Amino acid sequence: MPKKMIHDFHRMKQAGEKITWLTAYDYPTAQFAEAAGLDMLLVGDSLGMCVYGYPNTIPVTMDQCIVHCEAVRRGAPNTFVIGDMPFMSYQSSVEKAVENAGRFLKQANVDAIKLEGGRRILPMVRAILDAGIVVVGHIGLTPQSSGQLGGHKAQGRTVESAKALIDDANALAEAGIQMLLLEAIPPEVGEHITKKLAIPVLSIGAGMHCDGQLLIVSDMIGQFQAFTPKFVRKYCNVAEVITEAMKQYVADVRAGRFPTDEHCYHMLEGEYEKFRAMADT
Ligand code: KIV
Repeated sequence: MPKKMIHDFHRMKQAGEKITWLTAYDYPTAQFAEAAGLDMLLVGDSLGMCVYGYPNTIPVTMDQCIVHCEAVRRGAPNTFVIGDMPFMSYQSSVEKAVENAGRFLKQANVDAIKLEGGRRILPMVRAILDAGIVVVGHIGLTPQSSGQLGGHKAQGRTVESAKALIDDANALAEAGIQMLLLEAIPPEVGEHITKKLAIPVLSIGAGMHCDGQLLIVSDMIGQFQAFTPKFVRKYCNVAEVITEAMKQYVADVRAGRFPTDEHCYHMLEGEYEKFRAMADT
């Protein structure tokens, strides 16, 4: 299948075709995702929790994001890959934002970057767009500012909060972003924004009316154990499968059932007799 690019996602919105999106952090998962026909992959800073075991995304660095983007790019060369700008890689200055956004493209060859926030990050968004980089916005529950939001809580549940989200969405779209992600907001607000904007609007916990859906791969395959957000559907439970396999391995080694002859490298033809003679002297 040819790699989809940003204009394909705009066309899909027009045609009412849903866009499919998952996070990926490593080479094998990226390979699985490409084989499964995902439209897009996000190398999210959620890798802090899903891969490194941090309590949140705050400690994640640019270097970590770049290394994981490189691995995902290698695993999914024909999939649209989006790099996620980690905390403090774009908030402190326009220059830093452009430089770090550029690193994602130059070093990891991603197709776009994502960053969290609405009107208050507009100068950074404009500057990154001016550098010719495809930008995906992210509003609603924005984990990097969850401290200010009072925790990992759904947003836009009052008219005032919904209005603020709509204003943020409009401002980002007017600035020229090419896609927008809405996280953990009521489906009615998701639907309103999706209908109002010409660009594709994606949902992670923003309901069924958006132009496409994102899930964190570690949630949907049952790998991440700490908690499961309401918006997740688990499609399998790899934690159970892997733990069971490891238990069987432990039992087999302890009982002498592994390895067996089929797992052994035997000596080359005619070498065994010579080896025995040498070993017996
Ligand atoms: O880092 C990430 O995976 C994200 C999602 C929570 C949207 O930004």
